[in-house]
Amino acid sequence: MYYSGKRRGEDGIAAVIDFLLSNARLVLGVGGAAVLGIATLAVKRLIERAGRPPDEEPDKKMTDSWEELSLVSASPKLLHKGIEGVVMKQIAAATKKAELSQPIPMPSSEPQRCDADPPPPQRRKRMDLCVLTFADRLQQYYRTRVCLSAEEVCVAQQRALDIATEIQAFLHSKHPDMPLGDMTLAGSLLDDLQVVTADHACLIVPLQLESSLWTPIAGEDTFLGHPQYCMVRRENLEYFPRGRSYWDRHLLGAYLSSRLVCEQLSKAVMESMNWPSLTGTLECEVRPVLGSPELKLEIQGLTQSSHDSGERFYITVLPTVRLGQMTLMAQREITGSFDYVWYQSLYSSETARLAALDQADSGARRKCLKTLKAVCRNCPALRKLNGSHISNVVLHMSEKETDWSESAFSNRFLQAITELIGYLETGVLPSYFKANVNLFQGFTEDDIDEMGFMLYCAVTEPEILLI
Ligand SMILES: *[C@@H]1O[C@H](CO)[C@@H](O)[C@H](O)[C@H]1NC(C)=O
Repeated sequence: MYYSGKRRGEDGIAAVIDFLLSNARLVLGVGGAAVLGIATLAVKRLIERAGRPPDEEPDKKMTDSWEELSLVSASPKLLHKGIEGVVMKQIAAATKKAELSQPIPMPSSEPQRCDADPPPPQRRKRMDLCVLTFADRLQQYYRTRVCLSAEEVCVAQQRALDIATEIQAFLHSKHPDMPLGDMTLAGSLLDDLQVVTADHACLIVPLQLESSLWTPIAGEDTFLGHPQYCMVRRENLEYFPRGRSYWDRHLLGAYLSSRLVCEQLSKAVMESMNWPSLTGTLECEVRPVLGSPELKLEIQGLTQSSHDSGERFYITVLPTVRLGQMTLMAQREITGSFDYVWYQSLYSSETARLAALDQADSGARRKCLKTLKAVCRNCPALRKLNGSHISNVVLHMSEKETDWSESAFSNRFLQAITELIGYLETGVLPSYFKANVNLFQGFTEDDIDEMGFMLYCAVTEPEILLI
């Protein structure tokens, strides 16, 4: 396969994983929990070892791992790693596959049929045709599990637009002096990158700042030392004293405070608008989310079916400052306790670059991104990986990889899995546009172990990602 010999010692790793999992299948019935612990520790060791030169024979590695395995049963922490589901699914998938490849005598036990009641002599042959290749399964997954229907997207966008229009009109009438630009909806729902279910969008609220009075300060140039954290400094206070700019009321020291801006908008919009009456007009229930550091609206009953299933749609209101080339957002969920910090979002740059690359060669990069996003969302062990991580992996891959044609789709998908494992091994995923940003920052060692384990399993049996 394409990944053989690509990274040092990877063949050995794949062999050990194979070996481990085939044994897990045999003994899980006896002591499932112990096997889970064993597998976890083995993978952890393998991750550590992947950084070392391949100075040992594969056989020696195998024995080494077995020595490690025998130590494990003593560690209760590893036994409670909560990855039980991963291994159980792995086993379920393996069992199903074994069943499919065996001749099945009873017509009633035929697990998958191409069409109704094939005549008996042809059954065996038809069965073989029914065993889809991974590439087929991936295409099927993309069609049935990843993509949103045009109708779902349309309804969600229309509702988001209705709500945005109400908010804008309300702010203009109650706070005519507040210098705001035109609000726009943004995010994956608008960029055809949302997957599984239409459930969120952003409302960009641009603050109009006088470019002569305000300067953006990049985070790496400050004591914050974080390249995506920025500050907005008020200039020329001696000539244009406080009060000259509307936004001076949100100063903390000489800096524009994202917290104070959010607090004002929270009072002006979240606490002041008549949500129940809006609910009547829009025929869906709209209410502000209380206790979130961000300005968030929850919408229920977007469609009749979502009403029945209790699904929610969220709109995050994002105060945004555009100064020079920089787009800075008040994203307090990310910047936390830093009251004067603004977040430099790279989402638009990443999305635009992917779209441009796909357009130039009719590539399937965004299809790959969407599929991986859905996989991570549907798989509990991978839920911490989001669109931003995956976009950056695909952008890095695009630097080396030129074939993104439709026929290469499943190979690129699998390649992205091994690339992700590579980044997890080092604990660093550099941001494509800002190499000094590590997108894995904030993940614990346990998070990384869990994701690494799941993805390692997927190398030998990628179907487990499509469950
Ligand atoms: C992805 O998750 C990270 C935290 O791990 C977060 O900082 C980032 O904003 C998220 N990105 C998206 C697009 O949700």
